[in-house]
Amino acid sequence: MSFTSPKFTCTSPVNIAVIKYWGKENEAEHIPLNSSLSATLNQDDLKTTTTVQASTEFPCDELILNGKKEDVQGSKRIQRVFQEIRKAATAKWYTERPNKDQEIYVHIDSTNNFPTAAGLASSASGYCCLVFALGQLFEVKSDLSIIARLGSGSACRSLYGGYVAWEKGHDHETSKAIQVLDEHDDFSKQTNIVVCVVSDRQKHTPSTSGMQQSVITSKLLKVRASEIVPQRMIEMDKALKTKDFNLFATLTMDDSDNMHACCADTEPAIYYMNETSNQIVQLVKDFNAFDDGNGVENLKVAYTFDAGPNAVLFFPNKEVTNKFLAILHAFFPPSNQEQFFSKEPFVTEMKQYTEMVESFKKSTSVKIDADGLRYLIHTTVGYGPKVVSIE
Ligand code: DP6
Repeated sequence: MSFTSPKFTCTSPVNIAVIKYWGKENEAEHIPLNSSLSATLNQDDLKTTTTVQASTEFPCDELILNGKKEDVQGSKRIQRVFQEIRKAATAKWYTERPNKDQEIYVHIDSTNNFPTAAGLASSASGYCCLVFALGQLFEVKSDLSIIARLGSGSACRSLYGGYVAWEKGHDHETSKAIQVLDEHDDFSKQTNIVVCVVSDRQKHTPSTSGMQQSVITSKLLKVRASEIVPQRMIEMDKALKTKDFNLFATLTMDDSDNMHACCADTEPAIYYMNETSNQIVQLVKDFNAFDDGNGVENLKVAYTFDAGPNAVLFFPNKEVTNKFLAILHAFFPPSNQEQFFSKEPFVTEMKQYTEMVESFKKSTSVKIDADGLRYLIHTTVGYGPKVVSIE
């Protein structure tokens, strides 16, 4: 008897860690050395869209990623995800199929609405969307974040909106994502995020192999995992729940610095940040110490860097974001304005900050670097995966 399922189309978000995952305790099960915490980015700006369908007519599983056929059979991670989804399936068309020895194969088509060149870890939104869509198709009732983790560790955090923790746990069943604040919470709603895509020609060590090297050789990483991050997770939880941006920003920057210190402590040393990254760090520090009219008691912006040179900046509200965008525009004058501010035509609005920018220039040693940034993505905190259509 032949069977073809409806087509499920789903979308999933990108997430950016403010307490980083760097290193696995168990390689095969993707159990991390420490818990981590991230913000889910708004899918109106960045998302993966995945369509899945199952049929007895399909001769094998197939995955098309951004228009290119992937080697499904050769990928251990994809195989493990398929295996866990099929194990947890409750859909009758699958569990009650007449011939249990015969597999029903799936076709998957997945695309990102952001260029790979943006340097954002597409594996998180990609694996999250794959697992979420297959979870709908196979009617999986168990925790999907556990299965997404097997695709790529950071993917488990994209299963929810708002701010999300990946609790380290101690085995396959307990290492999973939980939502700390949803996207409707005031702190989530106020947060503005700017991804600064830095000009860069270097090829960087992929995160999977970079963290493997750090686990083997970095003594600092051991202290990070056993002492620094456990304490920081408690404080970050407090910062979010008390809506304390000052504490949030301090913890975010400290944790990024600490992860990159562990990379530098790795043998051979790994450096993800480049000169432009360091200039952005300096601008952030100088702006936090600069009186923009609202005093200097509270931090106004926080930076964080993943396994690459791009800075991701967090702001407590829209106004301060706009001020800092004006500063970025002045220090990294772009040859293509439109591309620089990919979302809003901000250039006219920026004029009101000319005086503030001129005064800020006097308080920093950062030099103007034309085209140091390729473009900016201005976004907010958003919602988790969604079913878009069932046809
Ligand atoms: C620096 O999740 O890409 O972005 O589990 O091996 O697939 P695998 O690694 P991955 O690592 C992400 C590392 C990071 C920090 C973070 O997102 O927490």
